[in-house]
Amino acid sequence: MIPPHGGILIDRQIKKVERYNYLKKAKLLPSIVLSDWSLSDLELIANGAYSPLKGFMNKADYESVLTKMRLADGTIWSIPITLPVKLKEAQKYQVGEEIALTGLDGTIYGILKLEEKYNYDKKMEANYVYGTTDTAHPGVQKIYAKGEIYFAGPIYQLNPLSHHDFKSFYKTPSETRMMFTELGWKTIVGFQTRNPIHRAHEYIQKSALEIVDGLLLNPLVGETKADDIPADVRMKSYQVLIKNYFPNNRVRLVVFPAAMRYAGPREAIFHAIVRKNYGCTHFIVGRDHAGVGNFYGTYDAQRIFERFSQEELGITPLFFENSFYCRKCDSMASFKTCPHDEKHHIFLSGTKVRKMLKDGKIPPVEFMRKEVAQILIQGMKR
Ligand code: ADX
Repeated sequence: MIPPHGGILIDRQIKKVERYNYLKKAKLLPSIVLSDWSLSDLELIANGAYSPLKGFMNKADYESVLTKMRLADGTIWSIPITLPVKLKEAQKYQVGEEIALTGLDGTIYGILKLEEKYNYDKKMEANYVYGTTDTAHPGVQKIYAKGEIYFAGPIYQLNPLSHHDFKSFYKTPSETRMMFTELGWKTIVGFQTRNPIHRAHEYIQKSALEIVDGLLLNPLVGETKADDIPADVRMKSYQVLIKNYFPNNRVRLVVFPAAMRYAGPREAIFHAIVRKNYGCTHFIVGRDHAGVGNFYGTYDAQRIFERFSQEELGITPLFFENSFYCRKCDSMASFKTCPHDEKHHIFLSGTKVRKMLKDGKIPPVEFMRKEVAQILIQGMKR
């Protein structure tokens, strides 16, 4: 089994009797309310998906991640994992204190041992992480809306998040690792997506499946931007796709409950590292991975991998060219394999597809499986 990032799979989930004692203590602590984004970070730190992180980043790690794409100790890490707090609220807490972390629903989800509070420069963070300060970028908008102070320190998780719509598809990295062992898979390719699966996705997944033992279909189901298709609808579409078009013993569907950053290249590195923690040996990076609008070049998210040695990264990225259905080839293809003019290629923009689905129209079968489109049309009616 592939070693986790940093060597040890972190587990900060408090369970059983210990949990009861911690909860009793947590009820007496001062508490702060976390956004859904921060709660999902709490969960992913606690369950080991963000190994080797044990808590929210301190200033040394944060600045090193921004400027070097490494934690202060040199471990590769490309996205800051921080806990923003509004200035007024931050002033109420002293370094050294323990703080209960609650959700908007009032549940205590965890405890933070506050080791450091620090200011940060929003513009600088936006520039480093997203490569822009343009507020048309959804990640930049988030930076400008969040609290001005970062709270740092180790965390514990005391209650699981509900994941109501997809509870049966939630697994921790130690559970996916166990699952791969039981399945007898030695090489596993991870696939990140925030979209319904269209034929190009299916093509690159199946191309990868030709060379590895299994596919972890690992859709991101945390916060996404408003015009992305909701996760519960997507989850139904993934199930119908797998049932009809994949051999059951070669694919597993497990949710990735993180918030989408839309950080393109940096998020591709982050996505790969996290999938390594889930036990994947390979990770698919196609066209404009984790991109949004025209903020990143089509293959920027592939090129960024050149900055790190394969040995140090640990997981093998599998790069795919922009893929499409070619009427002349009469198959899925990419510019690497198809000699024909673009006029023979079927390409539909996301906006156009969404409009078709909203109007109850099934997109061409060369673009999207009919069964998938039917689920999406139903979902869009809500
Ligand atoms: S993402 O924001 O979650 O990365 P999306 O769900 O669109 O976006 O893509 C999932 C994965 O498929 C990414 O690695 C992306 O680069 C890849 N991909 C999407 N569309 C294509 C395509 N037409 N050709 C090749 N790769 C693609």
